[in-house]
Amino acid sequence: MSWLDRDEQQRRDRFLYGGARQRFTLCRAALRSVLCRELDCRNEHLAFEASEHNKPSATVRGRPAPISFNVSHSGRHGLIALAPGGRVGVDVEERVPHPNLDELIAAVMGPNERSELAAAPRPRRLHLFFNLWTMKEALSKAHGMGLSMDVARFEIPQAMREGSASGCFRFADTPDVAWRLHNISTEEFAAAVAHSPDRQ
Ligand SMILES: CC(C)(COP(=O)(O)OP(=O)(O)OC[C@H]1O[C@@H](n2cnc3c(N)ncnc32)[C@H](O)[C@@H]1OP(=O)(O)O)[C@@H](O)C(=O)NCCC(=O)NCCS
Repeated sequence: MSWLDRDEQQRRDRFLYGGARQRFTLCRAALRSVLCRELDCRNEHLAFEASEHNKPSATVRGRPAPISFNVSHSGRHGLIALAPGGRVGVDVEERVPHPNLDELIAAVMGPNERSELAAAPRPRRLHLFFNLWTMKEALSKAHGMGLSMDVARFEIPQAMREGSASGCFRFADTPDVAWRLHNISTEEFAAAVAHSPDRQ
């Protein structure tokens, strides 16, 4: 707890539930620990700024740190990605049953993704949904817009929908920017990392 700065401690105090508060604290302390190690700086010199869509970036003694990172947490899992530059995004989701899975699929998946999920038997559908969802969220978080982006408007590359662990992705409006996408899911949780060396 003592590693967190005043803003983070205030954020921490706003969590209503002890579990969420504890997970936020642990995740921030872990993030600070890996960033201090990578940047070779003291914790009190490390601070965070947020973009217009709230994507955090690091500063050391008030200057932008030469590192990109992104964080995700779900239940008892946390995930931190670091990259030497460019933009990176991660997402992790525990594979818990969702009461309105079909409505969710209709809202966030593209046409090919929807028909492939509809053809999958129920338990498999949930599994595939989480894999696709974390890849979409990792891309939207790497981009920086997060879920203010309409993730139903793009689809995960077909080879990755069919099981490839990594692939290349391009948003239709920025075809010059190539994103490397990795599906790092296990049976217990779904997780993905997206990275582009491009800053813009
Ligand atoms: C970021 C977002 C995708 C989080 O989804 P989630 O599944 O609930 O949470 P995750 O655990 O995967 O990720 C949360 C982490 O993502 C990071 N994050 C927040 N906003 C982000 C963004 N726009 N892009 C990338 N990362 C972001 C933060 O580090 C956050 O963790 P922390 O607050 O503990 O540091 C979603 O809340 C979002 O889209 N936010 C942006 C909303 C927006 O545009 N707001 C406008 C300004 S008010």
